[in-house]
Amino acid sequence: MSNTPIRLQKYLAQCGVASRRKCEKLIASGRITVDGTVVMEMGKKVIPGKSRVTWDGKSVKSKEKVTYLLLNKPKGYVTTLSDPQGRPVVVSLIKNVSARLFPVGRLDLDTEGALILTNDGQFAQKVQHPSHETNKTYEALIKGHPRRAAIATLEKGILLEGKMTAPAKIALLSRKGDNSLIRITIHEGRKRQVKKMFAHSGHPVLHLKRTAYGKLFLGNLPSGKYRQLDFRDLKKIFL
Ligand code: URA
Repeated sequence: MSNTPIRLQKYLAQCGVASRRKCEKLIASGRITVDGTVVMEMGKKVIPGKSRVTWDGKSVKSKEKVTYLLLNKPKGYVTTLSDPQGRPVVVSLIKNVSARLFPVGRLDLDTEGALILTNDGQFAQKVQHPSHETNKTYEALIKGHPRRAAIATLEKGILLEGKMTAPAKIALLSRKGDNSLIRITIHEGRKRQVKKMFAHSGHPVLHLKRTAYGKLFLGNLPSGKYRQLDFRDLKKIFL
C-alpha cells in the first residue's frame, strides 16, 4: 500500500465501495467522512492506510492485493523480517513487489529450499495450523547409513522434548559415500524438527532442503529466485 495521497473518490473506488462516479455522488450527498469530518467537495485527498474514512458511519479500508510467492531460500538467509545480527533476510530477495510480504513458517539459517511468502495472514495461519496437517517434504543428507528399524522408529514417532512426533514418511534415496540421502515428509512444524529427529537416531543432518509443501514442489526454481503462485498452486499445498 502506498502512502501517497490520492483523491477521496479514487480511494473509495479502490476500496470497492462503488464505481468512481457513484463514489462522487456519495461524497456530494454527505455520507463520507475523513478523520471525523464530513467531506462534500471532490478535491479532498486522503492517505491510504492513514486517513480514517467512513461511509454511512462504517470504516472503509483499503484492500491490499493478496500475493503469494514461492521462494527457493538460499542458505545464510534468515526467515524473520529483520535480524538484530544484521544477517540477510529472505524478504530482501523479493524485488518489484509492493505488498508487505512475510514468510509462512520458518527455515533454519542453513536450510534451503521452498518458502512461501505472502501478505495473506489467514492463509498463512491455515498452512501452519496443526489441524490442517499440511505436509512439508525435505531432502536431507544425513551422516551414516541408518538401518530400516531406525527409519521405522522415526516414522512411527519418537519422544522429542517430552512430546511424541507425529507419524512421518521417510524414504532412503541413495548412499553418498559414508552418508545417506533421504526424503522425509512431516506435517508438524516444530523448530528444527528434522534435524532433531535424525540427531536422535544417531544420524545427524549435514544438509537440509525443503522440496515441497503438500504437492506444491520447488521443482527447478534456482536458489534465490521466486515465482508467483496462482490459485491452482495454492490448492496443491493442501493435497
Ligand atoms: N526441520 C529442521 O530441522 N530445520 C528446518 O529448517 C526445517 C525443518
